[in-house]
Amino acid sequence: MHCLLKRIYGDSLAVRTTSPMLCKGSCSDDNDLFRELSSQVSSQDRVRTGTSDGVLLFYTLNPFIPDFLPGFNSTILAGPKKNLNMKDKVVVITGGTSGIGKALAHEFGSRGSSIFITGRNQEALDETIAGLRKNGITAAGMTADVSVEEDNKRMAEQAIGEFGKIDILINNAGISMRAIFSEVDLDVVKKVMDINFYGVLYATKYCLPSITRNRGSVIGVSSIAGFRGLPGRIGYSASKFALQGFLEVLRTEMLKTGVHVLTACPGFTASNIRKRSLTADGSVQGESPRAEEKMMTAEECARHIYKATLKRKKYLILTTQGKLTVFLNKWFPGFMDKMVYNVMAKEADSPLP
Ligand SMILES: NC(=O)c1ccc[n+]([C@@H]2O[C@H](COP(=O)([O-])OP(=O)(O)OC[C@H]3O[C@@H](n4cnc5c(N)ncnc54)[C@H](OP(=O)(O)O)[C@@H]3O)[C@@H](O)[C@H]2O)c1
Repeated sequence: MHCLLKRIYGDSLAVRTTSPMLCKGSCSDDNDLFRELSSQVSSQDRVRTGTSDGVLLFYTLNPFIPDFLPGFNSTILAGPKKNLNMKDKVVVITGGTSGIGKALAHEFGSRGSSIFITGRNQEALDETIAGLRKNGITAAGMTADVSVEEDNKRMAEQAIGEFGKIDILINNAGISMRAIFSEVDLDVVKKVMDINFYGVLYATKYCLPSITRNRGSVIGVSSIAGFRGLPGRIGYSASKFALQGFLEVLRTEMLKTGVHVLTACPGFTASNIRKRSLTADGSVQGESPRAEEKMMTAEECARHIYKATLKRKKYLILTTQGKLTVFLNKWFPGFMDKMVYNVMAKEADSPLP
C-alpha cells in the first residue's frame, strides 16, 4: 500500500497506513486512484472517498461501527494535512508593491512560487518586480486598480497568460482612513469600501475558476479592525467586517470544492498604510500617527501568512495585542469600548473628541 501511495502522491507523501493518518494528496484522476486503491485493500474493507479542505481522502470503514458515526468508524488511508511547499505555485498578490504585499511577494517567491503582483503606480511596480527578479524570483505584474472591475479581469487573464494558471490569490491591496463619522466626507468611506471590499470581490471572482481547478487558496488580508471596530477608522473597520463576512461565506460555499480560504488578520504592522491614509476630506494624511518602528515588520507578517497558507488555516490573527483584542471583545464588549477609545484617543492628532 505504501509503495502504491508513494507512486501516486510522489515525494510529497508522508504516509502511515496502520493508524489514522494524514498526508498531502492531489490527483488528476480521482476515480482511477480510487479504483487502484480499492484493489489494494482487503475485500472485507469498505473503502470510501471523501474530501477535506478539498483534497481527496481515502478511508476504510470499521464494520462494527454504524455509518452515521463517520468520525469514529473511519481509518484514513491518505488525505491532506497541508500544502507541503509552495514550489511551482502561481501566486497573484494585489497591492504587491509596498508593505505586507511586497513582503509576501518575496516570501512566497523565495519558496519557489511564481509571483504576479499589481499596484496602481508603474514606477513602484517596476521597482518591485526588478527587486524580486534580482533575488532569483520568477515575477511579473501589471498596473491595476482593484476597485475597477475590468482591471481585475485583465489581471486574472494576464497572470494566466504569463504563468498558465493561478493557484493562490492574495487579496492584499488596501487603504485606510482616519476621521470620525460625524466629520467624514462619505465619499472617503465609499472609496475605502471600493478598494478594501469590492476590490476583493472582483479579484476573487475572476481568479476563482483557475484556483478551483488547482484546489488552491484565496487569501484575504483583513485586520484586527475586522473583528473590533476602531473609533476614527469607520470606513476601514466597516470594509474589513464586510470582507470577513464575504470570506466566511466563500469558505463555506467552497467546502466541497477543495478551495482553501484564509482570513488573515494582521495587527499593527510597519508599512506605508498610515502615511497614505485618507483624512475626513479625502486628502492624504502624509505621516503615521503611531510609532511604526515598534510594530511587527511586514516581513514577519508575511512569514506568518505564508505558514498559515501552507497549513491551509481558516484564520490567522496576529500580534499579542491583536489576539487579546479579539478575545476580550468577544466576552467583554462594553469594557473594550472604553479600552479601545482610550488607546485610539492617545494617537497623535487623534480625531476623537
Ligand atoms: N499595516 C498594518 O498595520 C495593517 C494591519 C492590518 C491589516 N493591514 C492590511 O494589509 C494590507 C496591505 O497594507 P500595507 O499595510 O502593506 O499598506 P501599504 O504599505 O500602503 O501597501 C498597500 C499596497 O496596496 C496597493 N494598493 C492600494 N490601493 C490599491 C488599489 N486601489 N488597487 C491596487 N493596489 C492598491 C498599494 O499600491 P498603490 O498605492 O501603488 O496602488 C500598495 O502596494 C491592507 O489590506 C491593509 O488593510 C495592514
